[in-house]
Amino acid sequence: MKAAVYHQHGGTEQIRIEDVPAPVCGPRDAIVEVRAAALNGFDPMMLMKTTGLKTPLPMVPAGDAAGVIVELGAEVDPTRWPLGTAVTIYPMVSDEGMTGETRIGACSEYIRIPVANLVRMPDGLGFEDAASLPIAYGTALRMMRVRGRIAAGEKVLIWGATGGVGVACVQLAKAAGAEVIACGSAAWKLERLRQLGAEVVIDTSIENVREAVWQRFGKPSTHGGGGVDVVVNYIGGDTWVESLKLLGPGGRMVTCGATAGYATGNDVRYIWSYELTIIGSNGWSMDDQAEVLRMARGREIEPVIHAVRPLAETGAAMQELIDRKVFGKVVLVP
Ligand SMILES: NC(=O)c1ccc[n+]([C@@H]2O[C@H](COP(=O)([O-])OP(=O)(O)OC[C@H]3O[C@@H](n4cnc5c(N)ncnc54)[C@H](OP(=O)(O)O)[C@@H]3O)[C@@H](O)[C@H]2O)c1
Repeated sequence: MKAAVYHQHGGTEQIRIEDVPAPVCGPRDAIVEVRAAALNGFDPMMLMKTTGLKTPLPMVPAGDAAGVIVELGAEVDPTRWPLGTAVTIYPMVSDEGMTGETRIGACSEYIRIPVANLVRMPDGLGFEDAASLPIAYGTALRMMRVRGRIAAGEKVLIWGATGGVGVACVQLAKAAGAEVIACGSAAWKLERLRQLGAEVVIDTSIENVREAVWQRFGKPSTHGGGGVDVVVNYIGGDTWVESLKLLGPGGRMVTCGATAGYATGNDVRYIWSYELTIIGSNGWSMDDQAEVLRMARGREIEPVIHAVRPLAETGAAMQELIDRKVFGKVVLVP
């Protein structure tokens, strides 16, 4: 079968389309014919080896896939999972780790996955939409609903609102009735964020986020008022301490990552003076995944797909992600 493969860490020139052996179905597995796969922010990180995670090589990128079951293991009940069933994969496999990180990813014609990790696609949802949802929208759902508990009327500032998790956070915050302040690094992306309903957009390439927020909402005061209620920050790096200065009394900062660096520094004065809460959020549940699929089917959320490309363009697609030229999700079709 064809797959996008890298044999060494490095730049996107390492990614090649190769003929590789088809996956072998274990007794409790399914083989899924991949109709669409989606890249995420962690794919370039794994390629370039910028996280502490050990990736087995050669590696196939992508944690997200939607497709149809074409083979079942001997111990799987075929009445529960008939061949041809349209599914997404839940990429966190208990004893193998994350698909595209520590187990072979989905940029291929077929993928092996335990049936315990299959999530049915609702009728009427397309494969490209379905593939774009699990990691980005599942993570965002957990951040915004379960961990962040975003409420109607709250002011929610989202750094990197233009990425996969970002656009999902914008959509879910809007759905919760929040006022969204969305940050991005280019005018064309800010225009798209406005179209998604963001009330305020901040261009991080030319504006200082703190000044923009203080000007608009006032400087936070320990006596009350000013700033925003929630900051969504998976960028880390220099944005971390800045974020503490954006939050009004009782403010919350939710994080699920650190694209620009995890050694962020701190200024604890803001945490005690403003009684801030820092909230970690990791992954999402299979129920969360089913919920975002259901929401997309019902058009409660509209998956934001930047481009659908053939599998042969995996390297180019990854480069666009690295160059911050993507708004939302990039989908690859074998
Ligand atoms: N813990 C979990 O379960 C989990 C799950 C999914 C994702 N994550 C993490 O969440 C983060 C976002 O993931 P994603 O898939 O949405 O990534 P993505 O699609 O690449 O989006 C990231 C966004 O951040 C901005 N950005 C990129 N590089 C940056 C840099 N060096 N400095 C500042 N901003 C930068 C870009 O927006 P602009 O160019 O417009 O600023 C980009 O749109 C990643 O750190 C990822 O590892 C964690």
